[in-house]
Amino acid sequence: MAQLSDAELFEALASRNLESVFEPAKSLGPEQVRALTEDLRQLDWQELDRQRSALSPEASTMALPSMDEVSAPHLAPPSTSGEAANQQALALGESALQAGRVAVVMVAGGQASRLGFDGPKGAFPIGALTGSSLFHGFAGQLQCLRQRYGAALPWVVQTGPGNHEETMAFFQRHAFFGLPEASVHFVCQGTLPALSPEGQLLLSNPSKLFRNPDGHGGLYRALHHSGLLPQWEQVGIDTVYTCQVDNPLVRLADPIFLGHHLAAKAEMSVKVVEKTDPSEKVGLVVRLANDTHQCLEYSDLSTKIQEERAEDGGLLLRAGNIAIHAFNLPFLKEMAANPLPLHLAHKEISALSPGELVAAPRKGVKFETFIFDALPRAKISVVQLVERQEEFAPVKNRSGVDSITSSRAALIARDRRWCQSAAITLPDQGAVELFPGTAYEAADLVQARGNLARRGSNRVLHKQADRE
Ligand code: UD1
Repeated sequence: MAQLSDAELFEALASRNLESVFEPAKSLGPEQVRALTEDLRQLDWQELDRQRSALSPEASTMALPSMDEVSAPHLAPPSTSGEAANQQALALGESALQAGRVAVVMVAGGQASRLGFDGPKGAFPIGALTGSSLFHGFAGQLQCLRQRYGAALPWVVQTGPGNHEETMAFFQRHAFFGLPEASVHFVCQGTLPALSPEGQLLLSNPSKLFRNPDGHGGLYRALHHSGLLPQWEQVGIDTVYTCQVDNPLVRLADPIFLGHHLAAKAEMSVKVVEKTDPSEKVGLVVRLANDTHQCLEYSDLSTKIQEERAEDGGLLLRAGNIAIHAFNLPFLKEMAANPLPLHLAHKEISALSPGELVAAPRKGVKFETFIFDALPRAKISVVQLVERQEEFAPVKNRSGVDSITSSRAALIARDRRWCQSAAITLPDQGAVELFPGTAYEAADLVQARGNLARRGSNRVLHKQADRE
């Protein structure tokens, strides 16, 4: 973006009736005016215009389809089901992994405010016995995959302005959990200015705009700005797996999922779980009349779409989004160049009110974009149904649903099932933890049983084990 001169900047503001943003700074002096001018120069005016039009009452930022415009998607079988249909997918996915064609991206830019955890969510100690972090668990999976496929498997952690430095410091403190430092990349998502309900720019202090993170949809642009995409192209990476930081059961770079995506020549694919509770806070993946797909966010669902029953008594629309995607690289690049729909949150925010010089709670509008809003733009998508107990137990809240307790319990139960299938004997009761990097899937435990017996309880931990 070309830098605007002072006159051009003023004109850009005046033509939009936004010049009053300078009033507090002007009342304080030239230094504040200069600082605010520099801040305003960073604005993306086109994006600002889009935000302001989204505020008009007639603007529906994301046209939501009605019940008769949507149907249930066709589903690929779960990777863990042992179905014959998965054999070809496995072979395709594995050959992509072996050829080094896959990168893993994790969105981790949120503030973990519902969890009430002081630090990046990925640093949360989810391991039942060692307190190993979510990031450690993911790094362990990547170690297993790197060994198995002999591929570099780059890992991008998409951070936010509120946790970028802290996240990098956490990885450094833990020596990148044994991964080569060069294989881990930190990419910070951008911000969008918040506006007053009338469309005026808001200030967090006289010389600074109030901005908030642009949502995980900011990933596309953040990846574009990082310069990684052309590098990936050069080394032959053409398939990108993405997921959220909050799900310790995620199967990173799942070869069967990637294989289904590749076999269908899909542009963007998604994993779902069967939704049984209409009020569960998961997005809903639906098929549109033109055979593309869309993810409807849970907060936007009409009662009809949420509650309609099928003949078998289950929900008619039950494909619950677990925020795991596969992309082909050209499609991902295209999304960076095409703005996503804006989602608006009308909130109390701490910003200056007219005539004031100090921030205080006032009405404002925050804007965000969502990664899954690219889905309807994909001509072909695979929707894979997964087994909830094997692949989805997010840690979002301190207690209750999707909490520390429920997520940890699901992880323990899964580790127990894996041990049981490998005939590893455990006490009937109590916590179990497969130390990060011990196994990517149950079959790894069967193969490694001899080794594990020799290396002892520091890899398969149960209640009486010492903390590592
Ligand atoms: C999200 C999905 C929902 C899905 C559910 C599955 C959205 C809008 N909705 O809901 O469809 O069913 O997860 O668990 O995402 N994040 C960023 N940058 C941001 C905001 C969030 O990177 O600006 C990351 C967070 O770190 C987290 C993830 O995005 O990893 C999800 O954010 P969260 O606010 O927890 O989404 P949910 O409301 O749980």
